[in-house]
Amino acid sequence: GAAHAPHPHESAHLHVAGEATYVDDMPPLAGTLHAALGLSERAHAEITALDLSAVRASPGVVAVLTAADIPGENNCGPIVHDDPILAAEHVQYCGQPIFAVLAESHDAARRAARRASVDYADLPAVLTPEAAKRQQAYVLPPMHLKRGDAPRALAGAPRRLAGEFRVGGQEHFYLEGQVAYVAPREDDTLQVWCSTQHPTEMQRVVCHALNLRSHRVVVETRRMGGGFGGKESQSALFACVAAVAAHRLRRPVKLRLDRDDDFLISGKRHGFHYAYDVGFDDDGRVRALKLEMTSRAGFSADLSAPVATRAVCHVDNAYYLSDVDIQALSGKTNTQSNTAFRGFGGPQGAIVTEYLLDTIARELGQDPLAVRKRNFYGRGERDLTPYGQTVEDNVLPELVDELEASSGYWRRREAVRAFNADSPVLKKGLALTPVKFGISFNVAHYNQAGALVHVYTDGSVLVNHGGTEMGQGLNTKVAQVVAHELGIGLHQVRATATDTSKVANTSATAASTGADLNGKAAEDAARRIRTRLAAFAAARFGGSPEAVEFADDTVRVHGNAIAFAELASQAYQARVQLWSDGFYATPKLHWDRLSMTGRPFYYFAYGAAVSEVVVDTLTGEWKLLQADLLHDAGDSINPAIDIGQVEGAFLQGMGWLTLEELWWNPDGRLMTHAPSTYKIPATNDCPPVLHTRLFDNRNREPTILRSKAVGEPPLLLAFSVFFAIRDAVASLADHRVAPPLVAPATPEAIMRAVTATRSPR
Ligand code: MTE
Ligand code: MOS
Repeated sequence: GAAHAPHPHESAHLHVAGEATYVDDMPPLAGTLHAALGLSERAHAEITALDLSAVRASPGVVAVLTAADIPGENNCGPIVHDDPILAAEHVQYCGQPIFAVLAESHDAARRAARRASVDYADLPAVLTPEAAKRQQAYVLPPMHLKRGDAPRALAGAPRRLAGEFRVGGQEHFYLEGQVAYVAPREDDTLQVWCSTQHPTEMQRVVCHALNLRSHRVVVETRRMGGGFGGKESQSALFACVAAVAAHRLRRPVKLRLDRDDDFLISGKRHGFHYAYDVGFDDDGRVRALKLEMTSRAGFSADLSAPVATRAVCHVDNAYYLSDVDIQALSGKTNTQSNTAFRGFGGPQGAIVTEYLLDTIARELGQDPLAVRKRNFYGRGERDLTPYGQTVEDNVLPELVDELEASSGYWRRREAVRAFNADSPVLKKGLALTPVKFGISFNVAHYNQAGALVHVYTDGSVLVNHGGTEMGQGLNTKVAQVVAHELGIGLHQVRATATDTSKVANTSATAASTGADLNGKAAEDAARRIRTRLAAFAAARFGGSPEAVEFADDTVRVHGNAIAFAELASQAYQARVQLWSDGFYATPKLHWDRLSMTGRPFYYFAYGAAVSEVVVDTLTGEWKLLQADLLHDAGDSINPAIDIGQVEGAFLQGMGWLTLEELWWNPDGRLMTHAPSTYKIPATNDCPPVLHTRLFDNRNREPTILRSKAVGEPPLLLAFSVFFAIRDAVASLADHRVAPPLVAPATPEAIMRAVTATRSPR
C-alpha cells in the first residue's frame, strides 16, 4: 500500500543524479542581474562615512542600493521589528549587510562589493552570553517558569550542587546556501523563488519592504537543499534585497550567497550558558532545580523568544521535576542574530538536566542510567510537567527497557570497565540517554495548514500544500496520505511546489509539524473528493455510499469493480467536482505566555540512544564506536524516510556537541566561516556499527495515520555521544569525579576536562 511503507523519497533519484533543480539551477531569465552584499567590518559601530563611488565604478555594476532605497519598512525581523534589511547608520555585528551591489554577473557583483570605503566609529561590543548577562543586555524580557517552592526544596534537599555549564551554537550548513530570485511581472507584481521554509513570511516581509499588498507578491519554493531551521526567518533578508532591487530596476534579480558570506551574515543555533543549583537525595532523585539559562541571541530578537520558550519547556526532558525555578534570558550580543535550528531550543533546554543527572550519578558513585530511570516521569503519578501539561503518552519505560536489552547496555558496561582497567591512555565510555520532545508550535495559531488536491480525468492526482520540502520527505509523505485516502498507487500522485498563490497564509515548515499539519489538510481534501466519488458511484451502481471501497486503484461498489481513473472520468461527465481544498487545525492546544503554562504540545515523541566511544586521553581525539538508536515515530507513514531522519538528526546533533565550533575573535569577527575551519560530521565520523530502529508504537492521538513527527526529536539522541565521552573521561578518576566537560567536546575541551578530572580541586 501507499501508507506505512518504505517508499523512496519522491526526488531521491534526482538528488543522487544531481538533477533536482534548486533556485540557482533555474535557467536565467533574460536581463537577470546578480546581487552581492557589502558587509560591516565591525561588531558594533556608527558608520561615519560611506563612500560607494568605487563600487559604482566597478566593471559590470548597474546599481548600488542602501537602506535609503527601501521604499517601505527597512525590517525583515519576524516578530520584533528590530532586524534591518540593510544597516543604515548603526552596525551591530561584523558581517551585517550595509549595501547591495547589482551587476551583470555574480562575480562582478562580488568584486565590486569589496571596493566600498566605510568609516566607523567603534562602540563597545558585547560578544558572549556571559557578558550580556553581566551587562543585563537582552533582546527580550526575561522568561520565568516557577512550579512548587524551589528555594525551600533546595534548602531541604539532602544534597545540593551548584555550578555552570555551557553549550555552543551551530551553523546550519545546509548544502544549498541562502538564495532568492525575483522577477517583476506586470502591474507591480513580483514573482519570488526562494529557498525558504516559510514562503508566506517571505511574501509578508517583501510586501512590507515595498509597500505592496499581499496579492501582488507570489512566493514559490519547490525544494531546499536543506533548511534545518536556518531558512525559517533568515531567508527574509535575501528575499527582501532581491525584491527591492528587482522592483526598482525592473529586472530579474538573483541573490545567491557565497558560503563564507552565508556564515558571516546568517544566524545560527543559540549557544547557551547555564547557572544551576540542584537539590537531590541519596538515590539521585532531583528534589529542586533553580536554573538560569542565557542564550546568545545575537543583535536582534529574530526567533529568540520561541526558542527560549521551547528551551524552558524541555528542561524536564524525560524527568519529573517537582520544584523548579527556571529563567530564560536572551542575551543581546554583537554577533549574528541566532535563530531556529533543529530542536529549536529544546536540545539546549534538555541537555542541562542530562548534565545534572550525569553529575549527580558521579557524585553518588552510581550508574547514570540507574539515576536517570529513577527520575523518569511516572504514569498516573509524577506525570505533570513544570508547565502544567500532563504526560499522557509516556512510553519511555518500555522503550528504554527494549534498548537496554537490544544494545546489551549492562554487558557492555562491564566490557568497558574491563577495557579501561587494562588501558592507561585509551579510555572507553558508554551512555544511554532518553528523549521526550513536545510536538506542536508553542504559538497555538501556527498549528494550522491547508491543501489542494486535484483529481484529473485520467485518474492522476496533483496535491499542493502549505509545507515546504527540504529533503525531509514531506512531499513523499503527503503524496502517500493522498494515495492511501483515494486507494490508488503512489505513482498516481504528485506533490507540487509550495506556492503562496495556491495555498494562502501558510505556517513555517518547522517544529517538525510538516507532515502532521499538511498531511491532515491533504487527507481532508482527498476525503472530500472521495466522499463525492462514493456518492456518485452509489447513485450510479447501487448500494450505499458508505459501502463503496477505494483500494488497489479500483473502486468496488455494489458488486462492481471500476478502475479509479474510469470512475473519475465518469464523475467528470456527470459534473462532479474532482478537486478540493482541505484544512486542519491541531486540537487541544492552549498556552499562557506570561505564566508559561498550558498545553503547548499535542503529544510527545520519544526515543533513546546508547553510544560507545573511545577517547585518547593524551590528545583528546575520540571515535564513536557504536550507536544503538531506538526512536518513536508512532505508526510511521514511511519507515525508510523516518530512519533517515533519525540517523541524520543523530549525526547532526553529534556534530553540534562535538565537532562544530563557532569561534569569534576578540573583535567579534567569526573566524570559522568555511568548511576549512568549521567541521561538520562526514562519512567517516559515522560509527562503524549503527543500529537504528523505530519503536513499535501508535500515536494515541488521532494524528495523520497515527504517526508522530520525526524531524527534530532524534537530534537529542546525540546527547548519548557527549555523555559517553564524559563517561570515558570520568573513568580516569574511577567515576567519582564529574568531568567539567562543555560542548562542543572538541579535543581541546576534552583535554581540559581530562586535566581537571585527573587533579580535581
Ligand atoms: N531533514 C532534511 N533532510 N533537511 C532539513 O532541512 N530540517 C529539519 C527536519 N529534517 C531538515 C530535515 C527541521 S529543523 C525540521 S523542523 C523538520 O525537518 C521540518 O520538516 P517536517 O516538519 O516536515 O518534519
Ligand atoms: Mo526546524 S528548527 O523547527 O525548522
